[in-house]
Amino acid sequence: MHDNADVPVMIIDDEAHLRITAGQTLELAGYTPRPFESAEAALAELETDFAGVVVSDIRMPGMDGMALLREVRRRDPDLPVILITGHGDISTAVEAMREGAWDFLEKPFAGERLVEMVRRGSEKRRLSLENRALKAELEAQQSAPGPRLVGRTPVIQRLAAMVQRISRVEADVLLFGETGTGKDLVARAIHERSPRGGRPFVAINCGAVPESTIESELFGHEKGAFTGALERRIGKFEHAGGGTVFLDEIESMPLALQVKLLRVLQERTIERLGSNQPVPLDIRVIAATKIDLKAAAEAGEFREDLYYRLNVVTLPIPPLRERREDIPLLFQHFAAVAASRSSMEAPPLDAAGISALLAHDWPGNARELRNLAERYVLLGVTCDYRLDMLMEGVDNNGAELSLPEQVELFEKQLISQALARHHGHVTDVCEHLGLPRKTLYDKLKRHNLKAEHYRHSADP
Ligand SMILES: Nc1ncnc2c1ncn2[C@@H]1O[C@H](COP(=O)(O)OP(=O)(O)OP(=O)(O)O)[C@@H](O)[C@H]1O
Ligand SMILES: [Mg+2]
Repeated sequence: MHDNADVPVMIIDDEAHLRITAGQTLELAGYTPRPFESAEAALAELETDFAGVVVSDIRMPGMDGMALLREVRRRDPDLPVILITGHGDISTAVEAMREGAWDFLEKPFAGERLVEMVRRGSEKRRLSLENRALKAELEAQQSAPGPRLVGRTPVIQRLAAMVQRISRVEADVLLFGETGTGKDLVARAIHERSPRGGRPFVAINCGAVPESTIESELFGHEKGAFTGALERRIGKFEHAGGGTVFLDEIESMPLALQVKLLRVLQERTIERLGSNQPVPLDIRVIAATKIDLKAAAEAGEFREDLYYRLNVVTLPIPPLRERREDIPLLFQHFAAVAASRSSMEAPPLDAAGISALLAHDWPGNARELRNLAERYVLLGVTCDYRLDMLMEGVDNNGAELSLPEQVELFEKQLISQALARHHGHVTDVCEHLGLPRKTLYDKLKRHNLKAEHYRHSADP
């Protein structure tokens, strides 16, 4: 529950008794009343991002409630204003609502009515301020160099600070985190922000390269080093000269190769296969693992000496479920990226959507969240932006819908957009989509779309 005690409520009335009774009622309900004798006095105290609501009488000497409402809305259209009208003064009440008042109270009114209105108003206010803060945060992140580490929970802020610090020193780094937590992103961020930033970033997935070729991939070989070595080949380590080598899934590196890697890390030289001429290397190594390397070393599945050498600077990257407060922010970030990529508007996220996001455990971490955000941008219209419905189409690893399912949903979305644009006029929609009438009708039926539902719709 949210504590009302920090929620201020401006009470503006020239009559002292109303200020006092309304103030007492709200104080009992846990709010912080701020009484003012005039609209002018209240406006002078109204700060940006005022975290509460405004309650004002309409009839006052000097600036009246309607003028106050207009001025408040000019400064901040999201700030709820509740106006108090005289008994039976319907026309003023109607005008107030038209001007954008949050609600109105007719004199005399019961305390509970006031409290209820203030409660709903301040809840709405809290949500819009939260959205505003998220947006500001996103804008601030946009100016940082290299890939952005989105998130403002203390764990992520600490991680971002560590990335910043590590990027300026030459140490090798071990990243440790579950699938999709951002190991790749962090490795690139460290590289980009380091003095090596303009130099190559060479990523090698140790689990994906066949054991028979990984050695020559990494170290290169001389002509004739083995059967089939027709030319000299420069390995990834040499290619990365001056830059950074990212050894992903280091746990799957063959044990025999681990010895060689240890030597590279210690001596900063390599020898191509088929040569014993050491070549000096200027690289930084960032390794990443999903598993507990220490346990693997103890079990004899990973070389202990290499583990200790890698473990000098270790950055653990926490799973998403340990930084839930970042989920909506990350979601909006991914949605904004996906939207700009396909020149679409990022659809808004409502309170129900946010709770659906928060309720999920995200075993696929940021990647799973990114997949969902992309689907939301592309396919959200097919389910009225019901995030929970979209989420049901995702399995726990964040796997995609099948291709036919995506094509189906995408087609539905395009047709629905065309219907909206042409206000349900089938002839125009056929022309727009280049479809014969019969085909369009078949598709409408299959997708359960009704042209007449779009008759009065606005353009999408
Ligand atoms: N904090 C973050 N801010 C912005 N984007 C993020 C963040 N964390 C992860 N991402 C994005 O989420 C996706 C998955 O991250 P990434 O590929 O770095 O994970 P990973 O740990 O390397 O996963 P895997 O273990 O499966 O290789 C990427 O698109 C990445 O850019
Ligand atoms: Mg990765």
